[in-house]
Order: sequence, then structure tokens, then C-alpha cells
Amino acid sequence: HIIPVITIDGPSASGKGTVAQMVAQKLAYHYLDSGALYRLVALVAIRSNTDCANESDIADIASHLNATFDGSSILLNGEDVSDAIRSEQCSKLASIIAGQPAVRAALLQRQCAFRQSPGLVTDGRDMGSAVFPDASLKIFLTASAEERARRRYKQLIEKGINANMQSILQDIYERDTRDSNRDISPLKQQVDTKLLDTTFLSIEEAVNEVLRLHNAAC
Ligand code: C5P
Repeated sequence: HIIPVITIDGPSASGKGTVAQMVAQKLAYHYLDSGALYRLVALVAIRSNTDCANESDIADIASHLNATFDGSSILLNGEDVSDAIRSEQCSKLASIIAGQPAVRAALLQRQCAFRQSPGLVTDGRDMGSAVFPDASLKIFLTASAEERARRRYKQLIEKGINANMQSILQDIYERDTRDSNRDISPLKQQVDTKLLDTTFLSIEEAVNEVLRLHNAAC
């Protein structure tokens, strides 16, 4: 009996995290935000002043990460760092260290351990291609860079955080380029993956489409 996995890969700020979480909730499946693991490694590196170019030190942080996912909170050594890992500094560093093979290797087993009954929904960049190649449904969820920047901008403004549309868009372009052009597990749509462009879709419509594809795949 194989435990079903739905993978949702895609670029930053595409809404894949929100969609994945809602699909998991609807199906009563477990949820893994794989990007949070890279962000946690980045946060520890920042706090411990570790040189991000030192691949073995960063991989060491990844292997010893004491993280717990508690509902919507992410705990690091018991401290709630859900907001801290979303900072611009963390986002940028996460995307840089994610290009290091030793870091990806150190996080692989940890990600596989989330595959538990009755099923798993996970989002990231390489969930369908590298971590769960035998997933029951693989989705590539995307939206135009401009639409993703608009959503990120709205989110920040709603939180009362100052935001600049031009710099958000610039940041999205930079991360897209870095995530898509790295040697290891680059972000790209695989042949066995279904494309879901949400540029003109609401969250609900995107969630329903994933559920429809899931039912069709069962
Ligand atoms: O998805 P999120 O934006 O939170 O991910 C943060 C960074 O972690 C991404 O920019 C990407 O470089 C990296 N990442 C990755 N592989 C994953 C998930 C995230 O390389 N499966």
C-alpha cells in the first residue's frame, strides 16, 4: 500500500503554499512546506553568523535542524519563527543556500519522513522531481511575475508592512532566475507534471482544480 503524495512545485509567491495547505485540509492529509526547511537553515546561518559560502557548515546546520511544524506555526528549538523565516533577508539567503548539493542532501530524509498515512500534500521546487518522484499527482503551479508581485505587495500592505512594488518585482525576478538556473534540482516544469497557471484564478478555483485532478488520478 503506497501512501499518496500530491506535489505542488512552482516559483516564489505563486500561492502554492496557500493552495497546498487548503488541499491538505480538504483531504485531511499531512502538509509539508519544504521551503520552510531552507528558510530555517538560512535563519540559523544568519543568527550564528555562519558564512553562507561555507557549504559544509551550512549542511551541518541542515542536518542538526531542531524544527517542529505545529499546525501553522514553525518552531525552531521551541521558538516560534513563523514570521522570522519570511523576512526578505531569509528569503534571499534560503534561495542561495538551496543551490548547495550538501544542503539538499541533508534535508532529503527529513522531507521523506513527512509521507505518512493517509497522505501528504507538499509544496516546493523539486518535490515532484527529486523528493517524491513516485507522487500520485504532480502539479506545477505558477502565475505571471507581475501577478505574483501584486499578490505579495497586497499581502505586505495588509499586514501593515511598508512595501515597494518595483523592488518586490525585482526580487521575484532574481529568485526565479536563481532557482531556475542552478545546477541541482532547478525549478522547471517536468514532463509528468500538470501545469496550473493561476494568473487569472482565485485561490478557491486553484484548490478546486487540484482536487479535481486528484480525484481523476485516483
Ligand atoms: O517556497 P519558498 O519561497 O518558501 O522557498 C524558499 C527558497 O527555498 C526558494 O527560493 C528556493 O530556492 C528554496 N527551495 C528549494 N527547494 C524546495 C523548496 C524551496 O530549493 N523544495
